[in-house]
Amino acid sequence: MIAFDPLSTRERVRIVDLHPAVGDLQSEASEGLRRSPKVLPCKYFYDALGARLFEAITELPEYYPTRTELGIMTRAVHEMAECIGPHATLVEFGSGVGLKTQKLLDAAIDPSGCVLIDISRAALEASAYQLADRYDDMEVIAVCADYTQPLRLPRPHRPSARTVAYFPGSTIGNFTHDEAVSFLGRVADLVGQGGGLLVGIDRKKDIGIIEEAYNDALGVTAAFNLNILSRLNQTGANFDLSKFRHHAPFVEAEGRIEMRLISEVDQSVQIGNAWIALSADEYIVTEHSHKYDLQQFEEMARAAGFRLTRQWSDERDWFSVCFLEVEDA
Ligand code: AVI
Repeated sequence: MIAFDPLSTRERVRIVDLHPAVGDLQSEASEGLRRSPKVLPCKYFYDALGARLFEAITELPEYYPTRTELGIMTRAVHEMAECIGPHATLVEFGSGVGLKTQKLLDAAIDPSGCVLIDISRAALEASAYQLADRYDDMEVIAVCADYTQPLRLPRPHRPSARTVAYFPGSTIGNFTHDEAVSFLGRVADLVGQGGGLLVGIDRKKDIGIIEEAYNDALGVTAAFNLNILSRLNQTGANFDLSKFRHHAPFVEAEGRIEMRLISEVDQSVQIGNAWIALSADEYIVTEHSHKYDLQQFEEMARAAGFRLTRQWSDERDWFSVCFLEVEDA
């Protein structure tokens, strides 16, 4: 017989809403488009269509990071769970319904609770109830907050041996170098003495392989990139999408992919009350995706107060899941 008790699921979910400031696409965009080179914030990729396009990207043959990381998780998740140890509070940046998180929670040794942190309250609530349903003896705390800003963590009711955060997907690579180090520093503060972070990073490799992943033959990444202009058009801008093309080169000096939208012609675009001039071949940078070598990432972690104590990678060393632990004071 299947026992189903919606009340007990609800009782195990705590929602903590820190009312994060939601950015204003139009004003952030007009500010970014006045810079040189022009930039747009990558967080605006993810409206409903953008999220579906990103899902499609993860299934492309050229886009290796998702399936490579998932392979590492499948192979090594029990070792990761051993490193984390029993009765940990697990913290996930993001809404926590992904397959990788599920694998980690399935393997975790009697976790005392799980804290999800996401800016979107709707996505967060849905996944918190989903998780509480699946793990029927685990408390789930859903914190609606912007994890790029400092925050204090609510504690689960059960005593906890340590706090370990999980940041999969190589999303850390979308921060600039300085942003990534300060993010890691905030995570170190958040998990505190004895705490840890399991983080996915995309490794440096043959440039051709990286560039193919961001310039796929089907043009899904191009659609994902151009969608940011459609979103701006919904706020009253007048970008003509046919006058931009997607290109994502690997910029070796910076160790990163730059997602660019290149203007095909000299043109002026209205955004709010402002007119922005673009000359032919001028580009807008919409995202950075940094690729690291292990030593470089270890140094960034150390600068943030972490020690790299273990890492798992695939047989080609294309991707790593790193376990960082807070350095003793
Ligand atoms: C979400 N993030 C880790 C992806 C990446 O690979 O940097 C976003 C992405 N942009 C283009 N393709 C995928």
